[in-house]
Amino acid sequence: MTKNFSLNKEPSAKVVPLTKEIGAEIHGVDLSKPVSKELFAIIYQAWLDHLVLLLRDQSLTDLQMIEFSQHFGNLDLAPIPGHGRAFVEDIPEMFVISNVVEDGYKIGSLGDGECLWHTDMAWTPVPAKASCLYALEVPKTEGDTGFLNMYTAYETLPQELRARIKGRTIKHDTQYTLDGLDRNGGPPLEEAIASSTFNVASIPGVSHPIIRTHPETGRKALYIGRRQNTYVNGLPVGDSEVLLDELWSHADSRGKVTLHHRWQVGDLMIWDNRCVMHRRDAFSSHARRIMHRTQIQSDLAPA
Ligand SMILES: [Fe+2]
Repeated sequence: MTKNFSLNKEPSAKVVPLTKEIGAEIHGVDLSKPVSKELFAIIYQAWLDHLVLLLRDQSLTDLQMIEFSQHFGNLDLAPIPGHGRAFVEDIPEMFVISNVVEDGYKIGSLGDGECLWHTDMAWTPVPAKASCLYALEVPKTEGDTGFLNMYTAYETLPQELRARIKGRTIKHDTQYTLDGLDRNGGPPLEEAIASSTFNVASIPGVSHPIIRTHPETGRKALYIGRRQNTYVNGLPVGDSEVLLDELWSHADSRGKVTLHHRWQVGDLMIWDNRCVMHRRDAFSSHARRIMHRTQIQSDLAPA
């Protein structure tokens, strides 16, 4: 249901749901102006209620985006790209997601390929609370981002599957890249798994509960990180693969009917990694896509 809010000396903010179960657009807010405590309380409650927020037609400098993101918490520093220079000079918190190459350097990460459903930073001990993405240049009809409600993914799991994951944890591997290559120069993952001595316990990584409770809403959510190189602790690899395939098949099926956002320049979206998975469609390598992103830290590990 659409909610209208009138604020003292400020234009009204309107919260309009985007789909039945995830996402809301906030109308009437210009983030280039300071956000009062009262306005932020409305935005934050809408975020907890709808999991993903969209604010359109924004015109933000990097510092204004940083300032808005900091209302949600402390920010992570962006990784340093291979060429050794920060994505944005003097703003170490700013990530750039882009396929653009300038003067022989990639200005951002992720290229133009498809990104499968995942939760940001699940392979770290205390994964990021939120991710905020702002569109500077986007293709007209490609590179959409999908968002999945992991509360309802949990609530709609068959009882039998829910019972099988109760109390279990997933190990989110940090040793292998998304391509299955050992970061320390060892054999590819398939080779390691095929070895008779392979033991999931030996893989460096962090474990998180498959069913987590959101620390602010108290609701339970399915937390499965990414499909590649994850393992259910305490199960032989083969059994773990079967169980994960069942969970992912359920999540994928929900992805067919969820929010898929087509970006416009000036769109800013912020989502809650504690209860949301996201994905991105591939787009033409000839198109330019430049997004700036901040990542907000969490104080608490998943529990
Ligand atoms: Fe992501």
